[in-house]
Amino acid sequence: MFDFRPGWVLLAAAAGCAHKPNDRDPQPVRFDGTVPVAGAVAADHPLASEAGAQVLRDGGNAVDAAIAAALASGVVNPSGSGLGGGGFALVVPPQGSAAVLDFREVAPAGATMAGFADPGSSTRGGKAVAVPVEGIGLAELHRTFGRASLATIVAPAVKLAEAGFERGAHLAAALESAPDMEVLFLAGNRRPALAASLRAWAETDGEAFRSGWVAQDFVDAVAQNGGSLTMADLAGYRVKTRNPLRGQLGERTILTMPPPSSGGIALLQIAGAVNAETSLHCEIEATKHAMADRAAWGGDPDFAWVPVDKLLAPERLAAIAADCGSFPLAPAHYGTAVPRGDDHGTLHISAMDAEGWAVALTTTINTSFGSHLVATRSGIVLNNEMDDFATRRGQPNAYGLIQGESNEVQPGKRPLSSMTPTIVLGRDGRPELSLGGSGGPFIVTATWQVLKGVLLSGVSVSDAVSAPRWHHQWMPDAVLAEAGTPGRDDLAALGHDVRTVDKPFSAVQVVARTPDGFAAASDPRKHGAPAYSLGPTAR
Ligand code: GLY
Repeated sequence: MFDFRPGWVLLAAAAGCAHKPNDRDPQPVRFDGTVPVAGAVAADHPLASEAGAQVLRDGGNAVDAAIAAALASGVVNPSGSGLGGGGFALVVPPQGSAAVLDFREVAPAGATMAGFADPGSSTRGGKAVAVPVEGIGLAELHRTFGRASLATIVAPAVKLAEAGFERGAHLAAALESAPDMEVLFLAGNRRPALAASLRAWAETDGEAFRSGWVAQDFVDAVAQNGGSLTMADLAGYRVKTRNPLRGQLGERTILTMPPPSSGGIALLQIAGAVNAETSLHCEIEATKHAMADRAAWGGDPDFAWVPVDKLLAPERLAAIAADCGSFPLAPAHYGTAVPRGDDHGTLHISAMDAEGWAVALTTTINTSFGSHLVATRSGIVLNNEMDDFATRRGQPNAYGLIQGESNEVQPGKRPLSSMTPTIVLGRDGRPELSLGGSGGPFIVTATWQVLKGVLLSGVSVSDAVSAPRWHHQWMPDAVLAEAGTPGRDDLAALGHDVRTVDKPFSAVQVVARTPDGFAAASDPRKHGAPAYSLGPTAR
């Protein structure tokens, strides 16, 4: 029998006790009564983390800090972030219920499957652009959970955009492959058009991005490049508040992203089938089942039946865990029999504060520099999130994902995502770990491996983030593994097709609460660094 309790699974994995500080945890900030601790921010760029920490020092909470970090990252890392996409935020407040704000882009009213017959049309140009709602979403996130003024939150990003900044290694590499995007920068990497948009965002509480000049700039850029975005698409957009998915990891509770992301379901399926003793081979087999289920069932729950309860039922998790015997098996073996009724364009920020707020915020423009369309007056790069739909039946998208009917294009529908913002509550019920990542489908496997490293293997947050990673997404039927991934030789001997990946394919950011403070890590693959705030008196 299936368990129909909504979104609740009991995970089989064993768990140790609370996250212990570790000699190799970076710069732990202590709750020792002598230093006023305000919090920690882990973004994918040191200047973005610092923007968040500055807002904490100025009296903001972790939600304000995460928004400030996202805005700053959009200035200094525009290949993978900015205000031209959408995202998800998972928030645990000090009191009250955890919530997800879903500000995922939707297909414009004029979008159709037939419009994507040309294979390039979902990745470049106007048709590739889903309704860009990040400005609308971040404003709503602030209205719902924020405390600092928008002027305070936007200030670090405006300063970077107006004064310019030194290019980081991640941006430099992204621009080498996309010289057309040099158009974003004036001398000294100044971005005055973006600075004006950021100011307009704060002054209008996001309305400039729904009905004002920034919105019109988006519409004009898309219209000039063959797309169908209208002001009505933006005016009609609604941010959705959702309940996070919940799973149990020993005495801990995992809160993670529900549909329209596939990430939370897959994370809980893997976590439910794996424990600290599970072999890498069996962990990969569990991942293949999770990714096959993604392909078959993933989609926008407002448009398609996504059988969350069945996919996370104890029986399903037990079946996945048990199915690690004979090998190799054909791809068709994976996935459920439920009857049918380049980390490049995404960023993740985790933040926690001493008051008890925890945030996991992931935003995306999809692939590097999204559609490569720049809305010129606003200086904002527009997403190519339409490629996250199954735009051509049976054909892989830019991430090699072959997706099902549930994820076909329909007006107003959200494309299936892999973004996996996740917060783990300790046995005291308070947030203990906030994490998530970038990298399309690699987000799921990367977030899982870091979570496992910290909570099941007991390594430091920085070691967990730096450790070599593997990925499998069911199709193509191959294990991608970074050099040094432990156990990879055994995989090849078992018959897995193991391919070495020498370019970074995911980036994870994490903040952990330790008994006496915070430890945070940003992924070295994207050259990030976390930042801490010691409080208003300790700048
Ligand atoms: N655009 C990447 C994702 O949402 O999965």
